[in-house]
Amino acid sequence: MKYFLDSAKINEIREAYDTFGIDGVTTNPNHIMLSGKPFKEVLKEMIEFVQEKDIVGYEKFPISVEINPHLDDKDEMVKMGKEISDMCPNFVIKIPCTEAGIAAARELEKMGVRTNVTLVFSPSQAILPAKNGSLFVSPFIGWKENSGEDCVQYIQDIVDIYANYGYETEIICAAVRNGKQFVDCAVAGADIVTAGLQVYKDSMYHPFTDYGMKKFQNAWDNTVTD
Ligand code: E4P
Repeated sequence: MKYFLDSAKINEIREAYDTFGIDGVTTNPNHIMLSGKPFKEVLKEMIEFVQEKDIVGYEKFPISVEINPHLDDKDEMVKMGKEISDMCPNFVIKIPCTEAGIAAARELEKMGVRTNVTLVFSPSQAILPAKNGSLFVSPFIGWKENSGEDCVQYIQDIVDIYANYGYETEIICAAVRNGKQFVDCAVAGADIVTAGLQVYKDSMYHPFTDYGMKKFQNAWDNTVTD
């Protein structure tokens, strides 16, 4: 299972890449706002980052960038998606799972622009992006579980549907909030999870690891010497 960082902050992307070896990045308009920087500047930092790390190309390190969420016309969505895609071969265009969005993603894929259909909340929403050849589909988990839904079966259903029909679209389980959800996604066979940096850090932590380190340090210090 691949790990993507859900962030538009270049310092977080750098840390997650250097420390955990993340496989890609996902962003959304909220992440761009939280970066405190203009949209174009955030993209410029990401372009410089992939050049510096020699990971140019979406096959090496995909970075999902969302189009203007106010757009509801297919042709305008395609136009903006193409403009963003032309800026960097790592950019995968994030498009909402609406009728216009599905049509725009289909057209962009035909043009060779890779897409990530986002804001997916049900298995039925996940089918058309795969039929139409999107690179990624992003079913959200955290938002649904926050509102009391269990997402284990929902993710499993999408994984099973894609396997039934040999769809090549990769499933990015999005808005992952904790280590339990990482495990749920991995057990279901999801391709990718995307989460914030702190979620990765927390999922790595266990107090018994600290306990074990102290115990073994003490043993090391008290081992008889020659
Ligand atoms: C993923 O692609 C989404 O951008 C993301 O997971 C949205 O969730 P969040 O911003 O609430 O974490």
